[in-house]
Amino acid sequence: MRAVVCHEFGPYRDMTVEDIDPPAIADDRVLIDTRATGVSFGTSLVIAGKYQRKPPRPFAPGTEVAGVVSEVGAAVEGIKPGDRVYAAIDWGGFAETAAARDIHTHVMPDAMDFAEATLFPISYPTSYAALIWKGRLEAGETVLVNGAAGAVGLAAVEIAKAKGATVVATAGSEAKRQLARDHGADEAIGYDALRDAVKDFTDGRGADVVFDPIGGDVFMQSLRATAREGRLVTIGYASGTIPEPPVNFLLVKNMSIVGLNYGTYLGWSPGDDGSAYAEAIEAMQADLHGMFEAGRLKPVVSHRFPLGDFADAMDTVLARKSTGKVVLEV
Ligand SMILES: NC(=O)c1ccc[n+]([C@@H]2O[C@H](COP(=O)([O-])OP(=O)(O)OC[C@H]3O[C@@H](n4cnc5c(N)ncnc54)[C@H](OP(=O)(O)O)[C@@H]3O)[C@@H](O)[C@H]2O)c1
Repeated sequence: MRAVVCHEFGPYRDMTVEDIDPPAIADDRVLIDTRATGVSFGTSLVIAGKYQRKPPRPFAPGTEVAGVVSEVGAAVEGIKPGDRVYAAIDWGGFAETAAARDIHTHVMPDAMDFAEATLFPISYPTSYAALIWKGRLEAGETVLVNGAAGAVGLAAVEIAKAKGATVVATAGSEAKRQLARDHGADEAIGYDALRDAVKDFTDGRGADVVFDPIGGDVFMQSLRATAREGRLVTIGYASGTIPEPPVNFLLVKNMSIVGLNYGTYLGWSPGDDGSAYAEAIEAMQADLHGMFEAGRLKPVVSHRFPLGDFADAMDTVLARKSTGKVVLEV
Protein backbone atom coordinates (compact mmCIF):
# COMPACT_ATOMS: atom_id res chain seq x y z
CA MET A 1 0.00 0.00 0.00
CA ARG A 2 1.03 3.65 -0.40
CA ALA A 3 1.86 5.50 2.81
CA VAL A 4 3.68 8.62 3.97
CA VAL A 5 6.69 7.29 5.86
CA CYS A 6 8.71 8.96 8.61
CA HIS A 7 12.13 7.23 8.91
CA GLU A 8 13.64 9.61 11.48
CA PHE A 9 12.12 12.40 13.58
CA GLY A 10 12.60 15.78 11.91
CA PRO A 11 11.04 18.19 9.40
CA TYR A 12 7.84 16.83 7.83
CA ARG A 13 9.13 17.74 4.34
CA ASP A 14 11.75 14.97 4.75
CA MET A 15 9.01 12.30 4.63
CA THR A 16 8.24 10.50 1.36
CA VAL A 17 5.35 8.48 -0.06
CA GLU A 18 6.44 4.83 -0.30
CA ASP A 19 5.06 1.37 -0.96
CA ILE A 20 5.02 -0.58 2.32
CA ASP A 21 3.31 -3.68 3.70
CA PRO A 22 -0.24 -3.05 4.97
CA PRO A 23 -0.86 -3.50 8.72
CA ALA A 24 -1.76 -7.00 9.97
CA ILE A 25 -5.15 -7.92 11.43
CA ALA A 26 -5.41 -8.90 15.15
CA ASP A 27 -8.33 -10.12 17.29
CA ASP A 28 -9.40 -6.67 18.50
CA ARG A 29 -8.44 -4.79 15.32
CA VAL A 30 -10.36 -3.34 12.40
CA LEU A 31 -8.66 -2.75 9.02
CA ILE A 32 -9.92 0.37 7.27
CA ASP A 33 -9.53 1.43 3.61
CA THR A 34 -8.68 5.03 4.35
CA ARG A 35 -10.70 7.65 2.44
CA ALA A 36 -9.79 10.75 4.48
CA THR A 37 -7.26 11.38 7.24
CA GLY A 38 -6.84 14.45 9.43
CA VAL A 39 -3.77 16.70 9.50
CA SER A 40 -3.12 18.43 12.81
CA PHE A 41 -0.67 20.52 14.80
CA GLY A 42 -0.26 17.52 17.12
CA THR A 43 0.86 15.28 14.23
CA SER A 44 3.55 17.81 13.28
CA LEU A 45 4.91 17.43 16.83
CA VAL A 46 4.91 13.61 16.54
CA ILE A 47 6.88 13.78 13.24
CA ALA A 48 9.37 16.22 14.79
CA GLY A 49 9.84 13.88 17.79
CA LYS A 50 8.50 16.57 20.13
CA TYR A 51 5.31 14.78 21.24
CA GLN A 52 5.16 12.99 24.62
CA ARG A 53 4.67 9.71 22.78
CA LYS A 54 7.24 8.56 20.21
CA PRO A 55 6.32 5.83 17.66
CA PRO A 56 9.03 3.31 16.68
CA ARG A 57 10.63 4.30 13.33
CA PRO A 58 9.86 3.93 10.51
CA PHE A 59 6.16 4.76 10.86
CA ALA A 60 3.32 6.44 8.97
CA PRO A 61 1.98 9.40 10.99
CA GLY A 62 -1.70 10.30 11.33
CA THR A 63 -4.15 9.60 14.16
CA GLU A 64 -7.58 10.42 12.64
CA VAL A 65 -8.98 8.23 9.86
CA ALA A 66 -12.30 7.71 8.11
CA GLY A 67 -12.99 5.03 5.53
CA VAL A 68 -14.55 1.66 4.77
CA VAL A 69 -13.91 -1.49 6.83
CA SER A 70 -12.11 -4.20 4.82
CA GLU A 71 -11.56 -6.79 7.59
CA VAL A 72 -12.32 -7.28 11.29
CA GLY A 73 -10.54 -9.40 13.91
CA ALA A 74 -12.08 -12.49 15.52
CA ALA A 75 -13.14 -10.67 18.71
CA VAL A 76 -14.67 -7.59 17.07
CA GLU A 77 -18.42 -7.09 17.59
CA GLY A 78 -20.78 -4.56 16.04
CA ILE A 79 -18.47 -3.60 13.13
CA LYS A 80 -18.33 -5.53 9.83
CA PRO A 81 -16.63 -5.29 6.42
CA GLY A 82 -18.26 -2.60 4.29
CA ASP A 83 -19.19 -0.34 7.25
CA ARG A 84 -18.31 3.36 6.92
CA VAL A 85 -16.33 4.18 10.05
CA TYR A 86 -13.97 6.66 11.67
CA ALA A 87 -11.27 5.79 14.18
CA ALA A 88 -8.65 7.29 16.46
CA ILE A 89 -5.39 5.42 16.01
CA ASP A 90 -1.92 5.57 17.58
CA TRP A 91 -0.27 6.31 14.19
CA GLY A 92 -0.58 5.00 10.61
CA GLY A 93 -3.36 7.28 9.28
CA PHE A 94 -1.43 8.71 6.29
CA ALA A 95 -1.77 5.38 4.47
CA GLU A 96 -4.14 3.50 2.17
CA THR A 97 -4.97 0.98 4.92
CA ALA A 98 -5.12 1.77 8.64
CA ALA A 99 -5.46 -0.59 11.62
CA ALA A 100 -7.64 0.57 14.53
CA ARG A 101 -8.69 -0.89 17.89
CA ASP A 102 -12.33 -1.90 17.95
CA ILE A 103 -13.07 0.32 20.99
CA HIS A 104 -11.82 3.37 19.06
CA THR A 105 -13.70 2.62 15.82
CA HIS A 106 -17.20 4.04 15.37
CA VAL A 107 -19.75 3.54 12.59
CA MET A 108 -20.46 6.92 10.93
CA PRO A 109 -23.94 8.45 10.80
CA ASP A 110 -25.33 8.08 7.24
CA ALA A 111 -25.36 11.82 6.60
CA MET A 112 -21.67 12.31 7.46
CA ASP A 113 -19.00 12.31 4.72
CA PHE A 114 -15.49 10.93 5.14
CA ALA A 115 -13.76 14.32 5.37
CA GLU A 116 -16.23 15.57 8.01
CA ALA A 117 -15.78 12.30 9.91
CA THR A 118 -12.06 13.05 10.51
CA LEU A 119 -13.16 15.58 13.17
CA PHE A 120 -14.97 12.90 15.18
CA PRO A 121 -12.15 10.62 16.46
CA ILE A 122 -10.24 13.39 18.31
CA SER A 123 -11.29 17.03 17.70
CA TYR A 124 -14.95 16.84 18.81
CA PRO A 125 -14.19 14.38 21.66
CA THR A 126 -11.37 16.61 22.96
CA SER A 127 -13.70 19.60 23.10
CA TYR A 128 -16.51 17.55 24.64
CA ALA A 129 -14.24 16.02 27.30
CA ALA A 130 -12.80 19.45 28.11
CA LEU A 131 -16.17 21.20 28.44
CA ILE A 132 -18.38 18.45 29.86
CA TRP A 133 -16.10 16.01 31.70
CA LYS A 134 -13.55 18.53 33.01
CA GLY A 135 -15.31 21.92 32.79
CA ARG A 136 -18.60 20.48 34.17
CA LEU A 137 -20.44 22.92 31.91
CA GLU A 138 -24.10 23.56 32.80
CA ALA A 139 -26.82 25.06 30.58
CA GLY A 140 -27.06 28.82 31.11
CA GLU A 141 -23.35 29.28 31.87
CA THR A 142 -20.99 31.43 29.82
CA VAL A 143 -18.07 29.80 28.03
CA LEU A 144 -15.00 31.52 26.63
CA VAL A 145 -13.55 29.54 23.68
CA ASN A 146 -10.08 30.63 22.54
CA GLY A 147 -8.81 29.87 19.03
CA ALA A 148 -12.46 29.43 18.11
CA ALA A 149 -11.97 28.87 14.35
CA GLY A 150 -9.48 26.02 14.77
CA ALA A 151 -10.33 22.32 14.76
CA VAL A 152 -10.96 21.94 18.49
CA GLY A 153 -12.07 25.57 18.96
CA LEU A 154 -14.95 25.44 16.47
CA ALA A 155 -15.99 22.07 17.89
CA ALA A 156 -16.05 23.62 21.37
CA VAL A 157 -18.23 26.53 20.18
CA GLU A 158 -20.79 24.13 18.70
CA ILE A 159 -20.86 21.72 21.66
CA ALA A 160 -21.15 24.53 24.22
CA LYS A 161 -24.04 26.05 22.25
CA ALA A 162 -25.77 22.68 21.86
CA LYS A 163 -25.53 22.22 25.66
CA GLY A 164 -27.29 25.54 26.28
CA ALA A 165 -24.34 27.80 27.09
CA THR A 166 -23.68 31.38 26.02
CA VAL A 167 -20.44 31.44 24.00
CA VAL A 168 -17.78 34.14 23.72
CA ALA A 169 -15.25 33.22 21.02
CA THR A 170 -11.78 34.60 20.32
CA ALA A 171 -9.96 34.36 16.98
CA GLY A 172 -7.19 36.18 15.13
CA SER A 173 -9.06 37.64 12.14
CA GLU A 174 -12.51 39.02 11.36
CA ALA A 175 -13.15 36.17 8.89
CA LYS A 176 -12.42 33.61 11.63
CA ARG A 177 -14.60 35.51 14.13
CA GLN A 178 -17.46 35.51 11.60
CA LEU A 179 -17.06 31.75 11.19
CA ALA A 180 -17.35 31.34 14.99
CA ARG A 181 -20.54 33.46 14.95
CA ASP A 182 -21.91 31.38 12.08
CA HIS A 183 -21.38 28.26 14.22
CA GLY A 184 -23.22 29.70 17.21
CA ALA A 185 -20.94 32.09 19.11
CA ASP A 186 -22.95 34.87 20.76
CA GLU A 187 -19.94 37.20 20.74
CA ALA A 188 -16.63 37.00 18.87
CA ILE A 189 -13.63 39.16 19.75
CA GLY A 190 -9.90 39.48 19.04
CA TYR A 191 -7.18 38.57 21.54
CA ASP A 192 -6.35 42.20 22.43
CA ALA A 193 -8.09 43.34 25.59
CA LEU A 194 -9.68 39.91 25.88
CA ARG A 195 -10.19 40.28 29.63
CA ASP A 196 -12.05 43.60 29.35
CA ALA A 197 -14.23 42.37 26.47
CA VAL A 198 -15.28 39.23 28.37
CA LYS A 199 -15.95 41.20 31.55
CA ASP A 200 -18.04 43.75 29.60
CA PHE A 201 -20.05 40.99 27.93
CA THR A 202 -20.78 39.28 31.27
CA ASP A 203 -21.58 42.46 33.26
CA GLY A 204 -18.34 42.11 35.18
CA ARG A 205 -18.75 38.43 36.21
CA GLY A 206 -16.41 36.73 33.75
CA ALA A 207 -16.72 33.34 32.03
CA ASP A 208 -17.82 30.27 34.01
CA VAL A 209 -15.83 27.89 31.80
CA VAL A 210 -12.76 28.71 29.68
CA PHE A 211 -11.55 26.43 26.86
CA ASP A 212 -7.92 27.28 26.07
CA PRO A 213 -5.84 25.60 23.34
CA ILE A 214 -3.45 28.60 23.00
CA GLY A 215 -1.60 29.26 26.28
CA GLY A 216 0.76 32.24 26.63
CA ASP A 217 -0.73 35.70 27.05
CA VAL A 218 -4.17 34.50 25.86
CA PHE A 219 -4.26 32.06 28.79
CA MET A 220 -3.15 34.75 31.26
CA GLN A 221 -5.84 37.18 30.06
CA SER A 222 -8.38 34.36 30.21
CA LEU A 223 -7.43 33.65 33.82
CA ARG A 224 -8.33 37.26 34.61
CA ALA A 225 -11.59 36.86 32.66
CA THR A 226 -12.73 33.76 34.60
CA ALA A 227 -15.68 34.12 36.99
CA ARG A 228 -15.74 33.12 40.66
CA GLU A 229 -16.17 29.33 40.91
CA GLY A 230 -15.02 29.17 37.26
CA ARG A 231 -13.17 26.31 35.55
CA LEU A 232 -10.35 27.08 33.12
CA VAL A 233 -9.50 24.02 31.02
CA THR A 234 -5.99 24.03 29.56
CA ILE A 235 -5.77 21.81 26.49
CA GLY A 236 -2.83 23.09 24.44
CA TYR A 237 -0.18 25.70 23.73
CA ALA A 238 -0.56 26.72 20.07
CA SER A 239 1.18 30.01 20.94
CA GLY A 240 4.33 28.05 21.84
CA THR A 241 4.33 29.40 25.41
CA ILE A 242 3.33 27.34 28.45
CA PRO A 243 1.87 29.82 30.96
CA GLU A 244 2.85 29.89 34.64
CA PRO A 245 -0.24 31.26 36.43
CA PRO A 246 0.03 32.62 39.99
CA VAL A 247 -2.05 30.24 42.14
CA ASN A 248 -3.34 33.03 44.37
CA PHE A 249 -5.73 33.87 41.49
CA LEU A 250 -7.37 30.48 42.07
CA LEU A 251 -7.70 31.09 45.80
CA VAL A 252 -9.12 34.58 45.45
CA LYS A 253 -11.79 33.47 42.95
CA ASN A 254 -12.49 29.95 44.27
CA MET A 255 -11.70 28.83 40.73
CA SER A 256 -9.91 25.83 39.21
CA ILE A 257 -7.49 25.23 36.40
CA VAL A 258 -7.94 21.73 35.06
CA GLY A 259 -5.95 19.92 32.38
CA LEU A 260 -7.34 17.75 29.61
CA ASN A 261 -5.23 15.35 27.59
CA TYR A 262 -7.64 13.37 25.43
CA GLY A 263 -4.86 10.98 24.41
CA THR A 264 -4.92 9.53 27.93
CA TYR A 265 -8.44 8.24 27.27
CA LEU A 266 -7.16 6.63 24.04
CA GLY A 267 -4.40 4.78 25.91
CA TRP A 268 -1.55 7.13 24.97
CA SER A 269 -0.26 7.61 28.53
CA PRO A 270 2.41 5.29 30.02
CA GLY A 271 1.03 2.24 31.87
CA ASP A 272 -2.59 2.74 30.77
CA ASP A 273 -4.02 1.17 27.59
CA GLY A 274 -7.23 3.23 27.77
CA SER A 275 -9.61 0.24 28.04
CA ALA A 276 -11.18 1.64 31.21
CA TYR A 277 -12.51 4.65 29.28
CA ALA A 278 -14.16 2.72 26.42
CA GLU A 279 -17.67 2.93 27.90
CA ALA A 280 -17.45 6.66 28.59
CA ILE A 281 -16.12 7.26 25.07
CA GLU A 282 -18.95 5.20 23.54
CA ALA A 283 -21.54 7.29 25.40
CA MET A 284 -19.84 10.52 24.34
CA GLN A 285 -19.66 9.49 20.67
CA ALA A 286 -23.38 8.62 20.77
CA ASP A 287 -24.15 12.07 22.20
CA LEU A 288 -21.99 13.69 19.46
CA HIS A 289 -23.80 11.67 16.76
CA GLY A 290 -27.13 12.85 18.18
CA MET A 291 -25.97 16.47 18.02
CA PHE A 292 -24.71 15.96 14.44
CA GLU A 293 -27.98 14.37 13.32
CA ALA A 294 -29.93 17.22 14.96
CA GLY A 295 -27.90 19.71 12.89
CA ARG A 296 -26.14 21.17 15.94
CA LEU A 297 -22.65 20.14 14.76
CA LYS A 298 -21.59 21.33 11.31
CA PRO A 299 -18.03 20.06 10.83
CA VAL A 300 -15.85 22.39 8.75
CA VAL A 301 -13.12 21.07 6.43
CA SER A 302 -11.35 24.12 5.01
CA HIS A 303 -8.71 22.35 2.88
CA ARG A 304 -8.41 18.96 1.15
CA PHE A 305 -5.15 17.63 -0.34
CA PRO A 306 -4.15 14.35 -2.05
CA LEU A 307 -1.96 12.05 0.12
CA GLY A 308 1.23 13.05 -1.74
CA ASP A 309 0.74 16.73 -0.83
CA PHE A 310 0.97 16.02 2.91
CA ALA A 311 3.66 18.70 3.43
CA ASP A 312 1.53 21.44 1.84
CA ALA A 313 -1.35 20.31 4.05
CA MET A 314 0.84 20.60 7.14
CA ASP A 315 2.07 24.06 6.01
CA THR A 316 -1.55 25.20 5.76
CA VAL A 317 -2.29 24.18 9.36
CA LEU A 318 0.89 25.65 10.84
CA ALA A 319 0.50 28.96 8.94
CA ARG A 320 -2.93 29.47 10.60
CA LYS A 321 -4.56 29.45 7.14
CA SER A 322 -7.02 26.68 7.98
CA THR A 323 -10.35 26.72 9.77
CA GLY A 324 -11.83 23.55 11.22
CA LYS A 325 -9.92 20.61 9.73
CA VAL A 326 -7.39 20.02 6.96
CA VAL A 327 -7.61 16.53 5.43
CA LEU A 328 -5.66 14.27 3.12
CA GLU A 329 -7.95 12.39 0.75
CA VAL A 330 -6.66 8.90 0.07
N1 LIG B 1 -5.18 18.28 25.07
C1 LIG B 1 -5.66 17.55 24.08
O1 LIG B 1 -6.16 16.44 24.28
C2 LIG B 1 -5.61 18.12 22.68
C3 LIG B 1 -6.33 17.49 21.63
C4 LIG B 1 -6.31 18.11 20.36
C5 LIG B 1 -5.57 19.28 20.16
N2 LIG B 1 -4.86 19.80 21.20
C6 LIG B 1 -4.07 21.03 21.06
O2 LIG B 1 -4.95 22.11 20.83
C7 LIG B 1 -4.30 23.09 20.03
C8 LIG B 1 -5.21 23.40 18.85
O3 LIG B 1 -5.36 22.22 18.05
P1 LIG B 1 -6.20 22.28 16.71
O4 LIG B 1 -6.15 20.93 16.10
O5 LIG B 1 -7.50 22.95 16.94
O6 LIG B 1 -5.26 23.26 15.85
P2 LIG B 1 -5.65 24.35 14.76
O7 LIG B 1 -6.84 23.91 13.99
O8 LIG B 1 -4.39 24.65 14.04
O9 LIG B 1 -6.09 25.59 15.64
C9 LIG B 1 -5.19 26.30 16.43
C10 LIG B 1 -5.71 27.71 16.59
O10 LIG B 1 -4.86 28.40 17.50
C11 LIG B 1 -4.85 29.75 17.14
N3 LIG B 1 -3.56 30.34 17.46
C12 LIG B 1 -3.37 31.37 18.31
N4 LIG B 1 -2.09 31.67 18.39
C13 LIG B 1 -1.44 30.83 17.57
C14 LIG B 1 -0.07 30.68 17.23
N5 LIG B 1 0.89 31.48 17.73
N6 LIG B 1 0.24 29.73 16.32
C15 LIG B 1 -0.70 28.92 15.79
N7 LIG B 1 -2.01 29.02 16.10
C16 LIG B 1 -2.38 29.97 16.99
C17 LIG B 1 -5.18 29.81 15.65
O11 LIG B 1 -6.27 30.67 15.48
P3 LIG B 1 -6.10 32.23 15.18
O12 LIG B 1 -5.30 32.36 13.92
O13 LIG B 1 -7.51 32.67 15.10
O14 LIG B 1 -5.40 32.78 16.38
C18 LIG B 1 -5.66 28.44 15.27
O15 LIG B 1 -6.97 28.47 14.72
C19 LIG B 1 -2.95 22.49 19.64
O16 LIG B 1 -1.96 23.02 20.50
C20 LIG B 1 -3.13 21.01 19.86
O17 LIG B 1 -1.90 20.37 20.15
C21 LIG B 1 -4.88 19.24 22.45
